[in-house]
Amino acid sequence: MRIVVTGTAGFIGAALADNLLARGDEVIGVDNVNDYYDVTLKQARLARLQKYPAFTEARFALEDRQNIDRVFARHRPQRVVNLAAQAGVRYSLKNPRAYINANVVGFCNVLEACRHHEVEHLVYASSSSVYGANRSMPFSIHDNVDHPLSLYAATKKANELMAHTYSHLYGLPTTGLRFFTVYGPWGRPDMALFLFTRNILEGKPIDVFNHGDHSRDFTYISDVVEGIVRTLDNIAKPNDAWNGEAPDPGTSKAPYRLYNIGNHQPVKLMRFIEVLENCLGRKAEKNFLPMQSGDVEATYADVADLTKDMGYQPQTPIETGIANFVGWYKDYYGYS
Ligand SMILES: NC(=O)c1ccc[n+]([C@@H]2O[C@H](COP(=O)([O-])OP(=O)(O)OC[C@H]3O[C@@H](n4cnc5c(N)ncnc54)[C@H](O)[C@@H]3O)[C@@H](O)[C@H]2O)c1
Repeated sequence: MRIVVTGTAGFIGAALADNLLARGDEVIGVDNVNDYYDVTLKQARLARLQKYPAFTEARFALEDRQNIDRVFARHRPQRVVNLAAQAGVRYSLKNPRAYINANVVGFCNVLEACRHHEVEHLVYASSSSVYGANRSMPFSIHDNVDHPLSLYAATKKANELMAHTYSHLYGLPTTGLRFFTVYGPWGRPDMALFLFTRNILEGKPIDVFNHGDHSRDFTYISDVVEGIVRTLDNIAKPNDAWNGEAPDPGTSKAPYRLYNIGNHQPVKLMRFIEVLENCLGRKAEKNFLPMQSGDVEATYADVADLTKDMGYQPQTPIETGIANFVGWYKDYYGYS
């Protein structure tokens, strides 16, 4: 298949593109390789994809609609995976406009390109952050999610709403994937595992927010990729049983659906740090701090729908996933 993947210089996009190319798909990778974090890491991820003859790189921003149209017209992709976005909850308090530009204007351009070029299936990244102020655990796609706690979360929820209108109006099959704290080799330098590892190895203290009383449904990168590929291969269909008098938020009469992609296994932050300390063979000096604005205390994914429809649920334990990350980190940054 010919697949446009956006965000291919990013953590999840690079891992997904690698998997699709390895199984024989043609991938057109769109990314503006921005400097939100270390550009050399993004370039190193791209360099691994460039070894595949079936990889085409297209370097521009999603906000550039002429270039998006040009790429869709030239390559005629059958399927599209939109992972490019301004990510990160905390940064959305500092630079809110970056989120509107990439995640709302950019996503609108992707939807328009899918509509005009008759794409068979659009899969796009949403986030566990859409659950916002919800406290009913585990988080289910059938719950209402109208109380986001950051603009990042609001833009991800907006993506789901925008996708629904295109599924309804133009019959574009769309699948939104709510990822839960993804981690693993080639991970993101603004996320806890990366920051903790770097500081522990450099003998610096680590910032532990909410005094360590967080828990997260950490999900390993290859499990996330498996979830994306399975949903990509299985085109969204209308739910004929959907009833507007008791509307289910997770499905629709239109070819629209949502899935959580999480480990279904929340882990206390202090346990996560303990496993990292064991892998590194060093104790962390911990700087306990209050909860950060926009953050949530706990996440926990209900993955029943993913399991039922895709016959799959992520299940890499953190002991394995963190060890793999530490192995990659030491190798990449030249620690013996
Ligand atoms: N990593 C996680 O834990 C997590 C959790 C929930 C949701 N997500 C979502 O998954 C997707 C991928 O996340 P990631 O962790 O790989 O992030 P990432 O920042 O590593 O990757 C995103 C990529 O998109 C590119 N990009 C950003 N804005 C762009 C624009 N306007 N035009 C073109 N390219 C642009 C960046 O250069 C980057 O390479 C994002 O949509 C993110 O919001 C990630």
